[in-house]
Amino acid sequence: MSYRVELAVLSEQKQFCRFGLTIHNLSDKDLTDWRLQFIIDRFILPDSFTHGEVVQIGSFCTVQPDVDCLAANQHYYCEFSINTAPLRFYTDGFKDALIVADGGENKYPVTLTPIALASPFRERSELAQAKPSELALIPKPNHIEVQDGYFSLTHSSQITLQASLAEKAATWLQQELTQLYDFTAPAIGQSDIVYRNNPTLDEGEYQLTVNSSGARLESGSRSGFVHASATLIQLIQVDEQHNLSIPYLKIIDRPRFKYRGMMLDCARHFHSLEMVKRLINQLAHYKFNTFHWHLTDDEGWRIEIKSLPELTSIGAYRGTQTALEPQYSHLADVYGGYYSQEEIKEVIAYAEERGINVIPEIDIPGHCRAAIKSLPDLLADPEDRSQYRSIQHYNDNVLSPALPGTYLFLDKVLEEVAELFPSTWVHIGADEVPDGVWLESPACQALMKQEGYQSAKELQGHLLRYAEKKLRSLGKRMVGWEEAQHGDKVSKDTVIYSWLSEEAALNCAKQGFDVILQPGQSTYLDMTQDYSPEEPGVDWAAVIPLENAYRYEPLAQVPEHDPIRKRILGIQCALWSEIVTTQSRMDYMIFPRLTAMAEACWTEKPARDWEDYLSRLKSHLALLDKQEIEYRQPWK
Ligand code: ACM
Repeated sequence: MSYRVELAVLSEQKQFCRFGLTIHNLSDKDLTDWRLQFIIDRFILPDSFTHGEVVQIGSFCTVQPDVDCLAANQHYYCEFSINTAPLRFYTDGFKDALIVADGGENKYPVTLTPIALASPFRERSELAQAKPSELALIPKPNHIEVQDGYFSLTHSSQITLQASLAEKAATWLQQELTQLYDFTAPAIGQSDIVYRNNPTLDEGEYQLTVNSSGARLESGSRSGFVHASATLIQLIQVDEQHNLSIPYLKIIDRPRFKYRGMMLDCARHFHSLEMVKRLINQLAHYKFNTFHWHLTDDEGWRIEIKSLPELTSIGAYRGTQTALEPQYSHLADVYGGYYSQEEIKEVIAYAEERGINVIPEIDIPGHCRAAIKSLPDLLADPEDRSQYRSIQHYNDNVLSPALPGTYLFLDKVLEEVAELFPSTWVHIGADEVPDGVWLESPACQALMKQEGYQSAKELQGHLLRYAEKKLRSLGKRMVGWEEAQHGDKVSKDTVIYSWLSEEAALNCAKQGFDVILQPGQSTYLDMTQDYSPEEPGVDWAAVIPLENAYRYEPLAQVPEHDPIRKRILGIQCALWSEIVTTQSRMDYMIFPRLTAMAEACWTEKPARDWEDYLSRLKSHLALLDKQEIEYRQPWK
């Protein structure tokens, strides 16, 4: 390419970094009337910029240089500062860059050189060698007795249903056996794999017995039959002649936590229906039972709302000529996508067949830029002069609690969401509403006066209580991020997802809220997996090597029999997608840490053991290979 950008960290102090930026014109033509666009996810201090000006909207930056011409074989240089923690990884640098020249007429792609870091981490995490275990079960069952002998599956091995609750689990097992082991059970044959009802087993529990008469899967619930099937899939061994066998054993198993979830952000980058279904199928393999679908954010609205088509016709796409600017990648393209309601129904049904509940998230009142830009007549308040900057550097991303349009929007969206999703829980976000919001809006100030509110924070409560009431009228329970309960905003029916720290969860539990633990320091799969600068990811919460993910123990300091533990419904891991642009990157960030999280969710504390897990993981990698998952090699 004819243009190259170099970014270097010049100096670094606590929460302050200075950068040097060089653009080389390697072509034999002068560039005139030109600008540079680039993507960086930290906020450049505008006054710190030399040799021109920078305008930043979110991660999208435009540099107007102070020279009109960048001559052939010459370079342009500027400096700027950011109030930020040190940069440690190449993915902290520019994510994309583009030169726009001749007053916007021509666009030229730019080669990015990896950022010259001032202080990459020196340490590296290294895994001890592990001996592959014979059984590659993850998560580890809570009770297992292995016996001598193997049962062989043959061409006449039939899957027999003696429990109607097992119908979908049996279909799933058949699909996976075909996919992974090229094994198709005949319609008529020997009852070698039998699903049998066992009403003594609670939700999610199952028993699996393998002996000379075959495999017997027992449960009293649909989900339990799916988990039994997942275990059976992992037990199958293949010899050189492609014969399939299952070791004799008896497993009696039940989940440690009732809620075992994963959140996927489909707003920052859009993940195709196939990618979403692929992930849900993987979650079923690891006995998760909840898929939390982050469908809306500043950078994109991904769910079709039939009564407000602009949300997707406008809000699902980013580009330099559209209402939403490019963010995080794809500077030169129109980028985006959304899920139609028919596609969402398909995902819900697909998940349901795998014992997984789909919880939609509509993030309000912050993180609403895509909605506001799509429906300005309804959602933008032209008189609001409030000054604020959100964590992701927007000054126009919060719904106004004082506009009638906001409530019309909420009614329409929540009604369609409630109709579409069978889940009784609907997640309304409520995270990261920036300070300063609503203070200079005459309408908000009038509302505060009318309601006797002392602080603008109470306006958020006003909005959330409306959403809670609306959802209740639609037969749904509102759930939200930990900020939803700040300032006594919502009723104790709201389930709180803590993410900033474990203390928040403990405080909420003490107040009587049910909580889901999703602490960024242990469960955020967008965090890097090691310290080397090549590792993709971010580290604002932590670097999370596999061992740290594995060792996560919710509220470890609270004694096992403390009644406060009853308020912990479960654990959730999350993939935020700022840097997740492809299937390959998604796989890399998720695996193998998802298998470690699965064990934190499922396996009772006394049965959890890091070395034992590593041995099982070592054998288990073959199954990831069969699924063509591009996981991070744990033993690099
Ligand atoms: C979050 O990470 N903002 C929930």
